[in-house]
Parts: sequence; C-alpha cells; structure tokens
Amino acid sequence: MSDTEVFGWKFSKFINNKNYDFKRDKILNVCGEDNVTDAYDVISGWENYKPTPLVKLDKLSKKLNLNNIFYKDESKRFHLKSFKALGGAYAVQKITKGNKSITVSTATAGNHGRSVSWGVQRLGLNCKIFISEFVSEARADVMRSFGADVIRVKGNYETSLKECIKQSKMNGWEIIQDVAWEGYEEVPKLTMAGYSVMIKEISNQTDQYITHVFLQAGVGGMASGAIAGIAKYFKRIPKIIVVEPETADCVLQSVEVGKMQKIDIKKESIMGGMSCGEVSLVPWRILKDAVNNCISITDKYVAQTVAMLKQKYFCDEPIIAGECSTPGIISLIAASEDKIVKDKLELNETSNILLIGCEGDADEKLYKKLLNEGIKQLI
Ligand SMILES: Cc1ncc(COP(=O)(O)O)c(C=O)c1O
Repeated sequence: MSDTEVFGWKFSKFINNKNYDFKRDKILNVCGEDNVTDAYDVISGWENYKPTPLVKLDKLSKKLNLNNIFYKDESKRFHLKSFKALGGAYAVQKITKGNKSITVSTATAGNHGRSVSWGVQRLGLNCKIFISEFVSEARADVMRSFGADVIRVKGNYETSLKECIKQSKMNGWEIIQDVAWEGYEEVPKLTMAGYSVMIKEISNQTDQYITHVFLQAGVGGMASGAIAGIAKYFKRIPKIIVVEPETADCVLQSVEVGKMQKIDIKKESIMGGMSCGEVSLVPWRILKDAVNNCISITDKYVAQTVAMLKQKYFCDEPIIAGECSTPGIISLIAASEDKIVKDKLELNETSNILLIGCEGDADEKLYKKLLNEGIKQLI
C-alpha cells in the first residue's frame, strides 16, 4: 500500500457521550483502588511474569499522520495469549486463597475460562467450565489441558451462564465470573483490577502522554478495567473511545441514552469475545461517564487487519493478532478517514494513540482461517 492510497474503511456508528464526566476518585471507588494496587503487586510476582510488549505501529502512524500509535500486544501474556490471563486467574487466587476443598466454576466465550482454569490449576483446585454452542472445540481443548471439566450447553453465552449459576448453586461451587449482576460484584471488580495491570505496564513503557485510547468492549470489563488503570496511573486523561461490533453495540446504545440497554443479538460477530448483548453492572458505573465516544464496526475488515498485522503493513515486526485485536485499528483508520469524526476526536499529528491488542491466536484454527482470508483480500 502506498503512502497516498487510502484504506476507504468505514465505521457503522459514532456517538458522543453527553454525560461525559471523568472523575478519578469515583472510578477508583467503583473498582476499588486497593484492588488495583494489589492486582499489580500480586500478578507481577507470578512465575514467568513479564510485561507484554508495547509496539509502535510506525508505518500506520505515518500513513494516518499521527504522532504515535502504541499497540499493547497481549498475545504474549504468559502463555495464555490474551489479556484475560490477568483477570480470572487473579480473582481465583484472591477468592479461594488456595483452599483445595473449593471447586471453581465459570461460564466463558473462551479466554476468561482459559484464565480461570489456568489459575485453578496453579493452585491445584477443581474447575468446571460452561461453554455455549458457539465456543470452538479448540478453545475447549485448551481449558481441558489446564485440567478443567468443560461442560457444553445448548444455546448462547447467556444460556451457558444461567446453567453455570444453576449447577454451581446446586453443588456449592464458587463462581468466578467476569460479569457482574445484582448482588454479584466482588469477583468482577477483581477481574477488572487484574486488567488494569496493562495500564500500569504502559505507564512504565512510555513517557509519551497518551491522547486517545481505543478500548474494545464485550460486557465492558476490559474497557472499565483499563479505565481504572488510567484513573490510577496516567497523569493526563486521554480521550476514551469504546469500540464494539455493530451487531452487539450494547455499550454504545447504553451510553447514547444514559441507561443500560439490552441488545437482542441477531447475528454473532466474528469477534466472538465481544459479541455480548448487555453491559455488565459494575463496568457500566464506570463507562457511563468516563467514555468520551463510542464507535461500532462491522466484521468486514477483521480478516484483512489480521493479515496486515502479520504481514508487517503497520510496523516492521509481524504481530499475531486474533479477531478481537483488530477493532482498535479498524476504528482508528475509519475515524481518521472521516473528516468530521477526525476533527471531533482531535486526531492530528500530535496524537499519541493507544490500542489494545487483546489476544493472539487464542483460537488457532480461526486465526489461520482469518489470516488466509485476509491475505487473499490483500492481493
Ligand atoms: C478476546 C476477548 N474477549 C473478550 C473481550 C471483551 O471483554 P469484556 O467482555 O470484558 O468487555 C475482548 C475485548 O474486548 C477480547 O479481546
């Protein structure tokens, strides 16, 4: 691709948060400032802990005429290949305190369950993982390899969560869920605090002030955990933009009306971890006034972006990025090519953008398929 050629990529919807009011104290209160501090202390002490790389997408920043684009590469997070390694495993440790008589349970789209089963295995406990019919066998196998008993439930993620809650109540299992609901808040807060470790690392990895952060959202745990990290560790507050699939834009729709909205997902996005119909309760308390803007995107550019990252289109090193790692790049490109939105976001040659590369080839089969598809589209 030459320097003058444009991508021609479009986002689906862009909105402004009329209720924006970023308050560090309030955010840290919701997540628990002690949890945020403790998460870094505990996780950085785990065996084989290493901050994940903060890669500069130099070729892309030049092309979009931005100062820097930083890409946090979570494909290298322990050997779990996603940021989720920070949340579930940390919550397992805090809640069970290693008590071997406890059986841990959870429902998952894949990566959270991987983190929980890994955390459980590290402590030598038992683990029950509930998955929907949409979770691949490849993902299930990884959780089995960490010693989990994987239970497949007919229906979608929500059905798998309902079944997990039902069976856990019956059997006295300890649910370690990344989603909050009425009366279940402690564990989701711990998982969010775990995710804030990414931001602590970034604050040590660059002395550039970040001006814009693009945060993917499913139920909003990752986005709100990152925001808690920003409230704690960043000196200047960047513009915060949440990105979602257009078929599951529950944060966007909720922010638009200032009230939690439930979406009826008509078609599952290829970005499976983000295909969620309802924002989680605790994250919502943070997202509703800490987010500046929301963007939704289609699946159209996902495969191409996977291929471009691997084929060094955006920087000189190949990056292994799964489907959920692409929305930041896609929405940044689409926003930069839309004059009105570009101006609204104040994207210019002084901007330092932060993107979260949430996962690597966590589902190897799907990754290969997307990569091959994407390579064909590039030719
Ligand atoms: C692999 C993966 N799963 C899930 C999510 C969504 O996280 P959450 O449900 O906490 O918003 C993301 C990122 O948005 C992701 O990359």
